[in-house]
Amino acid sequence: MAEIEFENIWARYGLRDSPYNVKALSLIGSFNIEDVFCGREEELKVLGNRIHSTESSRTLIVGEIGTGKTTFANYLRWLLTRKNVKETKFLTLVDEMKVRDDWDYNKFLRETLFEIYNSSKIFNWEAQGIKFKTLDVIKNNLDLFLTKDIGLKETEITISNHEEKIKKDIPSELLRSWFLQLCEEIKGYNKSFIFHYNNLEAIHPEKLGALFMSIKELIQIPNTHWFFLGPSDILSTIENKSQIHSIFHNHLMLEPLSEDEILKILKKRCNALKDKDVNYIKPYEDDTVKELHKKLNGNIRFIFKLLEDTTNCLSSVTCKATIQEINAIQEKEKRKILSRLNENQQKIIALLIERGEMTLTELSDGVDIKPQNLQKDLRELRGKTFIAFRDNPDDKRSKLVRLSQNTYLSFVFSQEKSVALMEYLIKTYTNEDDLVLDNCMGSGTTGVACKNLNRDFIGIEIDEKYFKIAKERINDALATDSAVGDKK
Ligand SMILES: Nc1ncnc2c1ncn2[C@@H]1O[C@H](COP(=O)(O)OP(=O)(O)O)[C@@H](O)[C@H]1O
Ligand SMILES: [Mg+2]
Repeated sequence: MAEIEFENIWARYGLRDSPYNVKALSLIGSFNIEDVFCGREEELKVLGNRIHSTESSRTLIVGEIGTGKTTFANYLRWLLTRKNVKETKFLTLVDEMKVRDDWDYNKFLRETLFEIYNSSKIFNWEAQGIKFKTLDVIKNNLDLFLTKDIGLKETEITISNHEEKIKKDIPSELLRSWFLQLCEEIKGYNKSFIFHYNNLEAIHPEKLGALFMSIKELIQIPNTHWFFLGPSDILSTIENKSQIHSIFHNHLMLEPLSEDEILKILKKRCNALKDKDVNYIKPYEDDTVKELHKKLNGNIRFIFKLLEDTTNCLSSVTCKATIQEINAIQEKEKRKILSRLNENQQKIIALLIERGEMTLTELSDGVDIKPQNLQKDLRELRGKTFIAFRDNPDDKRSKLVRLSQNTYLSFVFSQEKSVALMEYLIKTYTNEDDLVLDNCMGSGTTGVACKNLNRDFIGIEIDEKYFKIAKERINDALATDSAVGDKK
């Protein structure tokens, strides 16, 4: 068999890996968080002080996707818990909790308890003298927690298996009592838990309000501190409900980092990734980063993704990722992708880019195709995550643009910004299969959202047709998913 050599393109620069990884920094990650974290001094101080000076706190951390919310919360949790377990006043979860649209009181508790259990194992609290009796109880009941959760079980699409169902339900009262016991136990050690919940935008605003109402008591228990992260739209959900609003401390709004801070991050990352045996060549120009910073409103995720994609296409280190390079390469990518669409699909996309979002009727008029003749193409576009639907025109949460498996970029759908940015996105962002989309996930799309987090979108108003589409869409997503698995 012929040997295939895979070139690590970063080796050309003397790096072990890409400096442009857009994953949030975490407590246990590929980068040491303390080596590469930059900025946010003020916010760290505010929230750090709050946690040190209160016995229980609840903070909303808001900002656009890709500005560094998760990283910020993780870094603060790292700072507060980095000392050895005996010395620190806090214990925290290894990973942030990813909130899903199907979360209710029961799931919130169940997932949280399971993550506490996990974290106790990974951080090895017991070996360091912190032993929770309640975690033994959870351990003895672990099969209840471990049932395969595909995230779609409440939808009609999944064939529900009676036995599975019984296994999956743990009475809320039981979960609650375990949680309360854990909080008592940690109090006994004179420590507090710090919890971190990501992606609040994944829950429909109404459901989010209801969830907060149901967990109101839990999140006020002494010796617990709670971070909830999401785009600033979630503020209105909380502010509209005075009973919830009143239990929250002032929220923290994270603004994009400055260009200097982003340059600093890149420098630190390259330093951390340098391979000592190979000559280092800086893989980017400061000016390019600065220009991208301006163009993309400081969104790190977007900036890094562009740099990464472009660098991947460069044939040698002598070509740097300049703005011209970036534009040219992304333009080629865009054409490649658009050329794979049929004529009607291209028309649909063109109109959507031009107008932003629209109803099915408007779309149909605009492209001059009857609604019923659009269904198939819309479904296909949706399957490719080019477009999404939302069921409620008032649902004005931020739009999300899907960049690739784990990267999302959001922008507020304000008139001027959206069209320009959409255009830019389509121009710049398209790798195989992960397509630009502006979205607003409504309850109709819950299933798919739960399944694969495709929250990308373009709105089509609620009507029966929509409902059918949503249903088919979920089926498509499921079918595509398993097909991918099979192929491998
Ligand atoms: N303060 C920071 N210092 C270093 N890197 C950061 C910082 N904030 C964000 N990043 C990087 O930017 C990217 C996006 O951050 P992330 O926390 O995922 O944003 P958000 O949660 O707001 O979507 C990640 O790759 C992360 O490592
Ligand atoms: Mg995040």
